[in-house]
Amino acid sequence: MRQTLVIIKPDAVNRCIIGKVIQRFEEKGLQIKAMKMELLQPYVLKEHYAHHKDKKFFEGLIKYMTSIPSILIILKGKDAVAVVRKMVGSTQGREAEPGTIRGDYSISNQSNIVHASENEEEAKKEIARFFKKEEIYDYQKMNFDWIYSKDETYMKK
Ligand code: CMP
Repeated sequence: MRQTLVIIKPDAVNRCIIGKVIQRFEEKGLQIKAMKMELLQPYVLKEHYAHHKDKKFFEGLIKYMTSIPSILIILKGKDAVAVVRKMVGSTQGREAEPGTIRGDYSISNQSNIVHASENEEEAKKEIARFFKKEEIYDYQKMNFDWIYSKDETYMKK
């Protein structure tokens, strides 16, 4: 099974919808492997968003992301990276499909509620960027047998 990083961003924290966002992932059947609240620092965000450094929204993005704490989560599940990206919806809140997290809670390009890793390679890098090994938990979900078939539970991917 795969793991992916989700950041519930400052706008969602400020709007008191952390629980609603987490609930969607839990109800989908994804497992929370790690979770913490943290006031993200500019140096880590400049690395995280380095591919946007020449965009004109970059400075504003760093300011917004460092304004109040975020919630950082590692989710595990079959094809978790792709599944979570689909649940999150497209980046721009106004264009995101209803039924997706951004489509239901965001009307902004910047303040779009969540960040989710783009692909498997990014997910590995982002998990290592934001979490120490000892903050990540291995545990068996009691209801795994009701979320996957037996075959799926033992498949690596
Ligand atoms: P995220 O998925 O975390 O990846 C990059 C972030 O940049 C994105 O979510 C938004 O918060 C922000 N972003 C993307 N496009 C714009 C834009 N046009 N204007 C302002 N912020 C943006």
